[in-house]
Amino acid sequence: MCGIVGYTGSQSAIAPLIEGLRRLEYRGYDSAGIALGTPGKLFVQKRAGKLSNLESELIQTLPSATSGIGHTRWATHGGPTDRNAHPHLDNEGKLAVIHNGIIENYTELRAMLEARGHKFESETDTESVAHLLSDLRKTSHGDLAAAMREAVKSLRGSFTLVAIHADQPEVVVGVRRNSPLVVGLGVGENFMASDVAAFIDYTKRAVELGQNEVVTLTPTSVEITDLDGNAITPREYSITWDSSAAQKGGFSHFMLKEIFEQPKAVADTLIGRLSGSGDIVLDELTLSDNEIRELKKIVVLACGTAYHAGMIAKYAIEKWAKIPVEVELASEFRYRDPLIDSSTLVIAISQSGETMDTLMALRHAKANGARVLAVCNTNSSTIPREADAVLYTHAGPEIAVASTKAFLTQVIAVYLIGLHLARIRGVMDRSEVKAIFDELGELPAKIEQILETVEPLRALTRNYTNSTSVLFLGRNVGFPVALEGALKLKELAYMHAEGFAGGELKHGPIALIESGTPVIAILPAGHEHGLDEKMLSNIQEVKARGAHVIVIAQEGDEVPGAEHVIRIPKSLPLLQPILATVPLQVFAYEMAVARGNDVDQPRNLAKSVTVE
Ligand code: F6R
Repeated sequence: MCGIVGYTGSQSAIAPLIEGLRRLEYRGYDSAGIALGTPGKLFVQKRAGKLSNLESELIQTLPSATSGIGHTRWATHGGPTDRNAHPHLDNEGKLAVIHNGIIENYTELRAMLEARGHKFESETDTESVAHLLSDLRKTSHGDLAAAMREAVKSLRGSFTLVAIHADQPEVVVGVRRNSPLVVGLGVGENFMASDVAAFIDYTKRAVELGQNEVVTLTPTSVEITDLDGNAITPREYSITWDSSAAQKGGFSHFMLKEIFEQPKAVADTLIGRLSGSGDIVLDELTLSDNEIRELKKIVVLACGTAYHAGMIAKYAIEKWAKIPVEVELASEFRYRDPLIDSSTLVIAISQSGETMDTLMALRHAKANGARVLAVCNTNSSTIPREADAVLYTHAGPEIAVASTKAFLTQVIAVYLIGLHLARIRGVMDRSEVKAIFDELGELPAKIEQILETVEPLRALTRNYTNSTSVLFLGRNVGFPVALEGALKLKELAYMHAEGFAGGELKHGPIALIESGTPVIAILPAGHEHGLDEKMLSNIQEVKARGAHVIVIAQEGDEVPGAEHVIRIPKSLPLLQPILATVPLQVFAYEMAVARGNDVDQPRNLAKSVTVE
């Protein structure tokens, strides 16, 4: 939710801090701030609004400092003001702290610290940590890491905290609990950040931190301990992507770049997944064939766009593997008494691997005896680390807040799981699995084809910029696609948008149709259950009430009566979401641009939602 970066080295800290924050701005962009460490004095600057506001302030003379911390905020406690921006300071102005997450017991802490004479400047939960650390540092003889270990023992909630003190400005101390923090190892310099993207230009060597581990950086050392001060051996790994993946590469927005990266993302997620003998290769699953045969049900847990991928999983896995699948919003799951046990496979889908709702649901599932498989796009993030097994999607870094390529690869991942289970449970034979896999293999070229012919859709979108509401209709696997189209439009264009199952229209939503209301309908591929004809009837029903209908239909299908038809290549009906989603992403993108909205950083949102 917030982006955090820390640097200590021999060069000026300002470049790695600001460049790091720019790379992390997707995590929150309500305010930004830095603290630079110089002997005996901290230089602190913070501003409400985007990082650019802070940068324009920084044009003035800066102290030459070789260490510092920086923060970009998604507000939780206290509005997005200069005063509530991080870093927060102790009363001497010598200790600065930045925070991602929530300190649940901050009211008690604040009362206790105020009673001791501390004066608070902000409404945030974070500031209580600055005052607490300040006191504990004194009783720890100036040892900031020891103070951090003690402080964390009295904090409740989820957090990453990073602190610096003017008396030892080259020392940067961090800790994480249920919130991300990674260390970057340089030569004569070291980094810490919420995401490796912040320091990828400086080093490819990273160290992951476990829960409740405290890390102390100097330019030449990295020490990790648990909360009792016991040393922990750093777990180093190499970052496999380069910084060009985190740049716009000539596109006007990250979202557009990521939409255009989808053919490659889908192809990469499929690579190596079919063996020479025609079986799906999913070694990551770590379930024996017997365990797979004994599974009684699957529960998919996810939020937002990832939840829509979960809905598609239900159609595919039930059809192919003949095993019941429930799909549940992760944020709801643990607040009832879900019927799960060791015969349940839980699939937790998350691009970031840090979504707190999904993480908490995963823990609840494990505590109730279920096996958990994570489908995730971010290496070494918390959800895959806590799951029993992980299937990584290979979408590459997704920077735009609105998810696009990660969604398509999540859908591919659940198709692979469905085919694998079908094969092991003996529902499908090799040739059936191979036939579907071959169709999957054709999807990248088909997405490419859609993207090559997308200009008329972009022009068409601009006809609807002044509409107040857009409705999306789908049936079967087209229903989650309709929900996804509506979600993209809401979050990017700030328009009222809703997705419906076509058959539900007559049960209420049709009352929303007015003269000129744009309705985007996804015509089901194939004729199974006569669903295509039923959707054509739905189209007539909304047209009769004045709607303007845009239909997403596969090549060759007749669409009588639609104002506009957007063609997508033919595919198997169950695979159609991969193709039908792409024009809807483009529609939302174009609408946001036409309405002058910030495409990559829509208002009120953040990429990685690390609070419940
Ligand atoms: C919408 C979007 C969100 C995320 C949701 C889950 O475009 O990106 O709805 O899908 O916050 O995030 P992850 O997949 O990181 O768990």
